[in-house]
Order: sequence, then C-alpha cells, then structure tokens
Amino acid sequence: MIEVAKRLNSVEEYYFSRKLKEVAFLKSQGKPIINLGIGSPDLEPPFKASMMLRDSLDDEGAHKYQSYQGLPELRDAVETFYKDRYKVTINGKTEVLPLMGSKEGIMHISMAFLNKGDEVLIPNPGYPTYASVTKLLEAKPIYYDLTEENNWLPDFVALERLDLSKVKIMWISYPHMPTGANAPNKFYDEVIAFGRRHNILIVHDNPYSFVLNKKPISIMRYNYAKEVCIELNSLSKTFNMAGWRVGFMVGSYEHLAAVLKVKSNMDSGMFYGIQKGAIEALQCSDMWYVSLNSVYELRRALVWKLAEKLNCTYDEYATGMFVWAKLPPNITSEAFADKVLKEHSIFIAPGTVFGSNGEGYVRFSLCAPESTIKEAIARV
Ligand SMILES: Cc1ncc(COP(=O)(O)O)c(C=O)c1O
Repeated sequence: MIEVAKRLNSVEEYYFSRKLKEVAFLKSQGKPIINLGIGSPDLEPPFKASMMLRDSLDDEGAHKYQSYQGLPELRDAVETFYKDRYKVTINGKTEVLPLMGSKEGIMHISMAFLNKGDEVLIPNPGYPTYASVTKLLEAKPIYYDLTEENNWLPDFVALERLDLSKVKIMWISYPHMPTGANAPNKFYDEVIAFGRRHNILIVHDNPYSFVLNKKPISIMRYNYAKEVCIELNSLSKTFNMAGWRVGFMVGSYEHLAAVLKVKSNMDSGMFYGIQKGAIEALQCSDMWYVSLNSVYELRRALVWKLAEKLNCTYDEYATGMFVWAKLPPNITSEAFADKVLKEHSIFIAPGTVFGSNGEGYVRFSLCAPESTIKEAIARV
C-alpha cells in the first residue's frame, strides 16, 4: 500500500459512512433495521423536474461540458427563487454560483479563503464537514459552543473574548442542524456586525429553510450581508433531490469569483439535464411547499411519540428535517443509540456525531414513511 498523504491523518472516515456499513452488515444477517439515522429524503422530487431531466437528454449540446458558472437560466431561476421565497434581491448574473450540492461548496469556499494555520469558527454541535474540510486544509477549527440554555445560538460575548486575529471563516447554519433551532433577526445583524468588525467571512449554510419552517430566512436579507457573507443553499432537502447533487451559493461577485477560481480547476460544469431539472424545481408553486410539509408534519408527530416511548424529550418549536431529542439521565448518546439499534433494530444518530455538545442527545431523521415510524413505535 502506498503511503497516504499526512493530511488524511487529520480526519476520520465520516461517522455515517462507518456506521452504515455496520447497519448493512446487520441487515445482511436478517435484522429488520429501521433507518432513522440519516437525512436522505425518501420522497419524490417535483414531477416536472424529473420530466425535464428526461426530456432534456435530446437537447442540442446536452452531453457536452457545461459552463463553469452554470446555465444563465439556472442562475436566473435562483434569482427569482430568492425574490419569491426569501424576499431578497440578488443578481443571477453575478451573485449566484451553482454547485454540485452544498457539501462541495464547503470545500470550495475553504480552499478559496483559508491558508495553512488560519483559524475557523465552527459550531459545536454542527455539521461535521465544516471541521473535516478545515483540517484537510491544515487550518485550525475553533469550536464555538451552542447550548440549549442559549437556544443553540452563539454567545457573542464569549466569542469577542477570543483572540480572533487568525480567524478567517465562521460557519453558521439556521435552521440549525442537528438541533432544529431557528435564529431571530437580531442574531443575523449581530453575526454580520461581528464579521465586519473582525474581517471574518460568515458562511451561512442554509439547506433546511423550507422544511417545517414557517419563515424561511436568507442572511442576504440583512444590511451589509454581501460585504462579509456567503450563503450556501441546496435542492437536496427542499426538493428531495439529494442524489442529484445540486445546490448553489449566493454572495458578492468578488467572493464568488474567488470560489470560481478553485471550482473551475476542480470540475467541468454540472450535467445539463440536472440543471434543467433544477430550474423546474426552483419554479415550484406554493403547493409544493405545503404538500412537502404536510408529510413531514405527520411524520414528526409520530417521531415525537417514538421519542417519548424512549423516554426522551424534545422541543416542539424546532424546525428542519430532524427531531433532536434529549436523553434520560445517566446514559451517553452513543450508548443510547447502540442500545436502540441492538434492542429494537432502529438506527438513530448519537448527538456526539455533531460535536461534544451533542452529548446527552440523539437525532431522529424524518426521512422514513409513516408506516415505518409506526413500526418503530410498535417495537419499543
Ligand atoms: C447542515 C448541512 N449542510 C450541508 C449539507 C449538504 O447538503 P448537500 O446535499 O446540498 O450537499 C447537509 C446534508 O445533510 C447538511 O445537513
């Protein structure tokens, strides 16, 4: 075996990649595993998006390399989507960059803005990719605490006490994954002011704003946002298109041009049919959002029941595609998740996957049909 690069020692295989192998093994042994661990939407994408993907296969140039910046119509569709859904004006010609999922955007942004030794503010708990990408680039994660007492919002007084001279990026994400917490208007003003004061790029990762959330918010709505913020957005959860790998980032021309320098050296454009399908999805009417959420609402009510049966508590005002539940005392998250897997063949995510402040919690996904969640309840 050829020796791998040293940077690989800074990261571990993604928890879900590891755990899903174990789950697959248990399944192969005949265990009827119910997967409430991961957030991969099981519902169908908008019909017209799938139809457009199919119909576009015969379009002229459909199989050629595509523009690094995506089809102009796709960027226009993002502009209209932001205007209709977030009441925010962005310029599709200069302030939108399509991505193959927002996960890849995390790497592109980090490569565009981080030097070795730079520091990055990362939420604890939060999406694990922020930290692993930071480490792969030999930058240093500085975890900032999110706690239930603080409504899972950063404590700016504590942040101001840190030496911020090497901090280049701060990752934020509301509705927050994994807790489902929402941020008030005041928070966005505060974080933008913080970024401006310390010259820190604020990246708002925003894939969950349309799931069980009455007031979708874009950070771009707030004054001075374009000066210091980039927003990542995704079709994965909003339109059940996780496997399509399509998302985008929104920000100032200057910030996006820096990211494009990286991205155009890594890929050669997004498949034409996917872009055409994405345009259709972005143009969905209110009905799409109403029906999506009516399904998730029923599922969430059942997952709440399941959590109660497992002696867990939850915040019924939380949003997003998960239920973040507090455990009964005297058991760790991993031990609890393992016990539920062993005793009931139900896979849930221990809160510690998302950082040390996830200790004492587990995360249930809503990406399973009602019948499956009912079966899980019956098993407990
Ligand atoms: C907080 C957060 N950001 C980003 C992503 C990545 O989404 P995408 O499918 O757009 O790459 C996820 C996916 O689970 C997520 O939970």
